Amino acid sequence: MFKTKYYISGLMAAFLLSACSDHHDSVHYDGGALLKEKCAACHNLSMPPKTFQDEKAPPMMAVAFHVKDFMKVATASDKKPKFIEFFQEYVLHPSAEKSFCDKESLASYGVMPSQEGKVSKEEVGAIAEYVYTYYDEEKFLAQMQAKAKFDVLPLGEQIMTKNGCKNCHSIDKPKAGPSFRMIAKRSDTEIKQVILHGSKGKWKGFEKAMMPPFKQLNDQDIDVLVKWIKSL
Ligand code: HEC
Ligand code: HEC
Repeated sequence: MFKTKYYISGLMAAFLLSACSDHHDSVHYDGGALLKEKCAACHNLSMPPKTFQDEKAPPMMAVAFHVKDFMKVATASDKKPKFIEFFQEYVLHPSAEKSFCDKESLASYGVMPSQEGKVSKEEVGAIAEYVYTYYDEEKFLAQMQAKAKFDVLPLGEQIMTKNGCKNCHSIDKPKAGPSFRMIAKRSDTEIKQVILHGSKGKWKGFEKAMMPPFKQLNDQDIDVLVKWIKSL
C-alpha cells in the first residue's frame, strides 16, 4: 500500500464515537452507514480522500483498490465473495502476515487492532459488500477524467456547465435557445439583464422555450459569463 497523508472531514468526525448496538438476525444491514459508524474513526472514507497529516490508517479507497488488485482469484466471479471473505477475516483477526500492506506502511500505521466485539461478522460482510461496489476503480477514473476535463474549461464555461445553461444553449448551433454566437451580438447590459431576469418571446424561432431567471448568480459570475459570451 502507498502511504499517503489524508484528512478526515468533519462529517466523518461525527461518527468517531460510535457505540455497539444490539442487532437481530432479521435486520437488514446498511453497509454504508455501518462503514461510517465502525470504520471512519481510522479510515478516511472520501473518494478521492483528502490530504491529512496524522492519519491512523490508509484511506478506504486505497484499501479497496489494493485488496482488489492483490487478491488472488481463479475467476472474475470469485472476486466479490473473496473480497468480502477477506474483510470479514481481516477485520476480526488482523495480522502483519495477512495484510496486503507493504512493510513500510505497516511499520508506520501499525497493524490494525482487531475489531472483534465492536463489529459482527455479518456487519463486516455488509460493509465489505458496500465498499466493493462504492470504491470502483472505473467509476473513480471516469470521475477524475470528467473533473480534469471540467477544470481546463474557461471559467465562463464552468459556470454555464454548473448552471445547466448548456441544456438550452450551445456555442454554435441553436437549441431551445439561440446559440451563444448569436447572443454575442447583444450588448453587455442586455445579456446581463436577461441572465438575471429571464426572457421570453424576444427571439424569433425560440418562442416555445423561455429563458429562466438566474437570480442566484452573483455579479462576479455574471460578469465572467458576459465576457465569455462576448468573446465568441
Ligand atoms: C483503530 C483504527 C482502525 C479501525 C477502527 C479500523 N481500521 Fe482497518 N486498518 C487500520 C490500520 C492501521 C490499517 C493498516 C495496517 C494493516 O493493514 O493492518 C488497516 C487496514 C485495514 C484493511 C486492509 C488490510 C490490507 O491488507 O491492506 C482492511 C480491509 C480494513 N482495515 C478494514 C476495516 C474495516 C472494514 C473497518 C471497520 C469495521 C476498519 N478497518 C476499522 C486501522 C483501523
Ligand atoms: C430552459 C432553457 C434555457 C436555459 C436553462 C438557459 N437559457 Fe438562455 N435562453 C433561452 C431562451 C429560450 C432564450 C430566448 C429568450 C427570448 O426569446 O426572449 C434565451 C436567451 C438567452 C440570452 C439572450 C440575451 C438577449 O439579449 O437576447 C442569454 C444571454 C442567455 N439566454 C444566457 C443564458 C445563460 C448564461 C444561461 C445559464 C446561466 C441560460 N441562458 C440558460 C433558454 C434557456
